[in-house]
Amino acid sequence: MQKIRVVCCGMGAVGSRIARLLLEKEGVEIVGVIDIAKDKVGKDLGEVLELSKKLGVVVSDNVDTVLSKACCDVVVHATGSYLKTVYEQIAPLAKYGVNVISTCEELSYPYLTEPELAKKLEALGVKYAMTFLGTGINPGFLMDTLVITLTGVCQKIDKIKAVRVMNAATRRVPFQKKIGAGLSVSEFKEKIATRKITGHVGLEQSIGMIASALRWDLDKIQPDQVKPVIAHRQVESDAIRVKKGQVAGIRQTAHGIMKREDVITLDFQAYIGAEEEYDSITIDGVPPVHQRISPCVHGDIATVAIIVNSIPKIMNAPPGLVTMKDLPIPSAAVEDMRKSL
Ligand SMILES: NC(=O)c1ccc[n+]([C@@H]2O[C@H](COP(=O)([O-])OP(=O)(O)OC[C@H]3O[C@@H](n4cnc5c(N)ncnc54)[C@H](OP(=O)(O)O)[C@@H]3O)[C@@H](O)[C@H]2O)c1
Repeated sequence: MQKIRVVCCGMGAVGSRIARLLLEKEGVEIVGVIDIAKDKVGKDLGEVLELSKKLGVVVSDNVDTVLSKACCDVVVHATGSYLKTVYEQIAPLAKYGVNVISTCEELSYPYLTEPELAKKLEALGVKYAMTFLGTGINPGFLMDTLVITLTGVCQKIDKIKAVRVMNAATRRVPFQKKIGAGLSVSEFKEKIATRKITGHVGLEQSIGMIASALRWDLDKIQPDQVKPVIAHRQVESDAIRVKKGQVAGIRQTAHGIMKREDVITLDFQAYIGAEEEYDSITIDGVPPVHQRISPCVHGDIATVAIIVNSIPKIMNAPPGLVTMKDLPIPSAAVEDMRKSL
């Protein structure tokens, strides 16, 4: 049986790790690479990944050149968080009949913030018999898919709360930057207000996905303001030193409100120096469920894993736009990937 053929689009911190994992796996091959970064275009993938050998796949900035040459089953896409930006990158892939898995946070559940684009992607998928999926560790798993899975043992649910606390020092540098680590409080406020940094993207999408799975008709989804977490002592990562009084990262919360009750609360905290890292989910229901993963799941490693593990799942998915709650339960593809088809 032929190997699964993958094109990687976006060779940044996450995309290059996805490519490295794919190279280690059996039953799958990288047949093309797309990125617009000037320091990558025209280079062999081996060179971009800082491997000691060439791989015979050259980075191109032209989607059509890559996809018209390479027969491909899946494009793994990791360039941006907002569907408005990413739409023009992924929509043209549909006509090649290739499935698309993206780390774009808004794509994980786009029906609330980008309903028109979601409709267009659904129509393109159906027209060209291919599937779009947005996933990752969060959104994509910890604060939505896993929550939904745990509700499967409940007879009745009153409230759900999920908390994620992580030490951002161990995460990729683009992530540390987008949570404002090392900025003064005024710089942080200015950059958040002007969207030069985004904080975490995805809480609204996660709440939307949970509510949809439970058929809860929410009155609204209410994101709170992104709050800076201030360092009480000097803390640092390999890339960023945060002095006492500077911003170490963020705390972001969002609420799903139904009949004036806060029925879904998501609390996301990521900052350099967080001492206790964990993921917890509490379901007030019958029976009550409390799950705690300690230390928390490593976001970068897990995002790369869930993207790669989703390759066989998307190849078997119905055409159109799907979310994680529409696919079979997530599972690792640790053997030859063709066995998972
Ligand atoms: N759902 C989740 O759990 C999850 C987890 C991790 C990451 N993410 C998201 O995934 C995205 C990628 O993360 P990252 O840390 O790898 O970001 P990054 O390091 O900034 O990498 C993005 C790469 O994509 C390239 N790029 C930008 N526009 C492109 C285009 N039109 N075509 C091809 N390549 C393009 C960039 O080139 P330039 O540098 O020249 O712009 C860069 O090389 C981010 O939005 C991040 O928030 C989501």
